[in-house]
Amino acid sequence: MSTENPRRSIAVAITGASGAIYATRTMAALLERGCHIELVVSDYGRRLLRDELGEEAAIEKLTPFLTAKYGDVVKNGSYTLYSNKDLGAKIASGSQGCEGMVVVPCSMKSLAGIAHGLSRNLVERAADVMLKEKRPLIIVPRETPMSLPQLKNMTLCAEAGAMIMPAMPAFYQMPKSLDDLADFMAGKILAALGFSHSLYPSWQG
Ligand SMILES: Cc1cc2nc3c(=O)[nH]c(=O)nc-3n(C[C@H](O)[C@H](O)[C@H](O)COP(=O)(O)O)c2cc1C
Repeated sequence: MSTENPRRSIAVAITGASGAIYATRTMAALLERGCHIELVVSDYGRRLLRDELGEEAAIEKLTPFLTAKYGDVVKNGSYTLYSNKDLGAKIASGSQGCEGMVVVPCSMKSLAGIAHGLSRNLVERAADVMLKEKRPLIIVPRETPMSLPQLKNMTLCAEAGAMIMPAMPAFYQMPKSLDDLADFMAGKILAALGFSHSLYPSWQG
């Protein structure tokens, strides 16, 4: 367990695309490292947590779920959950100290809202803040196949400075389980945020 910077503050947005396990694994890895997470979960993100991970992963049970699945190390960190309707929340402002954000998984709807700067809810507004403040924004979209508008929305976000990191786990690390696949994506996200990790073995060539 690393405590390389116990005060790092990262925003995590969970939206209604398939892949809730990527979100919980990413949260657990950040918490293990002593981070504070500013958490916002859309209505469909809440639904996906339950649909894909079971009732025990419902948003109001998230702390015991993370502890049971990933261990007591998640207690190294902390998180604050905001309503997606709360456009007055801390992370809606550029003057707050949150240093980076990941939208994992990112639905095509939220992707479109971010790409066009709509700020209709806290997920979109917090992402917009990251772009305008030139802070790291990692978008983990999941859809297949993708329409031309969806592809263009990814390009718009990339042009604005976001990192597009599709939920595309690799297989060269010989995954044995869904958790191995989630580890891969969480490792990619952590690396993009500047954390060291050993969530998957590095490619040896
Ligand atoms: C079980 C389920 C799975 C879904 N999977 C995806 C998906 O993988 N990608 C996507 O873009 N939308 C998916 N959707 C649709 C979005 O949840 C829907 O467009 C929603 O309005 C997104 O809103 P949000 O971005 O505010 O969460 C799914 C919906 C459900 C109920």
